[in-house]
Amino acid sequence: MKQTEFKKRRKQLMQQIGKGNIGLIASASTRTRNRDVDYPFRQDSDFYYLTGFNEPEALAVFIPGRTQGQYLLFCREYDEKKALWEGAHAGLGGATRDYGADDAFPIDDLDEILPGLLENKAKVFYPMGQNSDLDHHLLDWVHHLRSQSRTGICAPLELVSLEQILHEMRLIKSAAELQLMRNAAEISAQAHVKAMQSCKPGLFEYQIEAEMIYHFQQRGLRAVAYPSIVATGKNACVLHYTDNKDKLKHGDLLLIDAGAECDHYAADITRTFPVSGRFTEPQKLLYQLVLEAQSAALAQIKPGEPWNAAHDASVNVLTKGLVALGLLKGKVSKLIKNEAYKAFYMHRIGHWLGMDVHDVGDYKVAGDWRLLEAGMVLTVEPGLYIPADCKTVAEQWRGIGIRIEDDVLVTADGHEVLTGLAPKTVEEIEALMQAA
Ligand code: GLY
Ligand code: MN
Ligand code: MN
Repeated sequence: MKQTEFKKRRKQLMQQIGKGNIGLIASASTRTRNRDVDYPFRQDSDFYYLTGFNEPEALAVFIPGRTQGQYLLFCREYDEKKALWEGAHAGLGGATRDYGADDAFPIDDLDEILPGLLENKAKVFYPMGQNSDLDHHLLDWVHHLRSQSRTGICAPLELVSLEQILHEMRLIKSAAELQLMRNAAEISAQAHVKAMQSCKPGLFEYQIEAEMIYHFQQRGLRAVAYPSIVATGKNACVLHYTDNKDKLKHGDLLLIDAGAECDHYAADITRTFPVSGRFTEPQKLLYQLVLEAQSAALAQIKPGEPWNAAHDASVNVLTKGLVALGLLKGKVSKLIKNEAYKAFYMHRIGHWLGMDVHDVGDYKVAGDWRLLEAGMVLTVEPGLYIPADCKTVAEQWRGIGIRIEDDVLVTADGHEVLTGLAPKTVEEIEALMQAA
């Protein structure tokens, strides 16, 4: 992502914060995994969206209209010893030279400098309750300023949520963002093809996971967007199964929900296919029903359509189909009203997708479902999960879990599926697997 993109975002944010106010946002922190080993660092999405700065121990400050500089970055000072052991970091010079900060200060000087920047500002925009360190510091700084009121200094009067502004911005993707999302989507879809091609009875779930991670990394995507779900047989009915440790058996399905991250942008794809390359008859009937539900939901993805239209379409198709196959009994309208379908379809149709796999942005505006707009990206992922111990259905259906998930961009006149490279019709999947 080019620096000009981050600059454009900061400008847009500054306009919304407004003169006389100030905005603050903190980076993510490193986290200990065990003893002196950290988890891989992942920058806070909001912070990265505005700064492109990929280090911990940093705080970005936005002061619209400030003549000595509107964008300030507090960060770690350059330390040669640290560079020797841990590698490059920007330092104060890099923060201004490479990351567009108007000025940079040592993060260790925050307590001395920040109160002065808060002086006489009416509102402080910051992500409330997201970072307890920042929450505490901010209250301390405001308290400190209040105690100086007799000198004529005014402390800020209002603390305002920065996310409201920021998340509305993040909800509509720019061309530069879409380029990264297309890349994540394409490489992740190819990894699903690899999984289908390498799948055979006797392998373990983690071996298929390894095939996919190998592909992500070979293509330069070093991180997964979320822990991969590689779930065979009845494991597929556990929605967030990530143990990925069981053996693949002939006659079972394999559900894979896996996607990579490209420069902080996620892909999120699910495909379900038979371990041996051929669906059994009951598997095929349920699979085609989920596919039909997805296609009905996709037909609702266009500008002006409310967020829930796709979900309602999927509920309609699934409930009708479950009645037709005998898994639900009764009148379709009543089963929908009573939410009887939730025994087998217990999640919603999807979510916003972006820097976070479950991306930011409100789903309702003033109490009503949000209308879709061009530039939004979302997942469409209906599923059916028949518990292995479900006594109300015939035995042939039990323990089958199926989800089909694609990433979809709302376009000016409809939508574009970004993850179409991964096959999903019964015929396509069987043909690909037979040919492998
Ligand atoms: N992979 C998480 C989800 O599909 O929402
Ligand atoms: Mn999803
Ligand atoms: Mn998913």
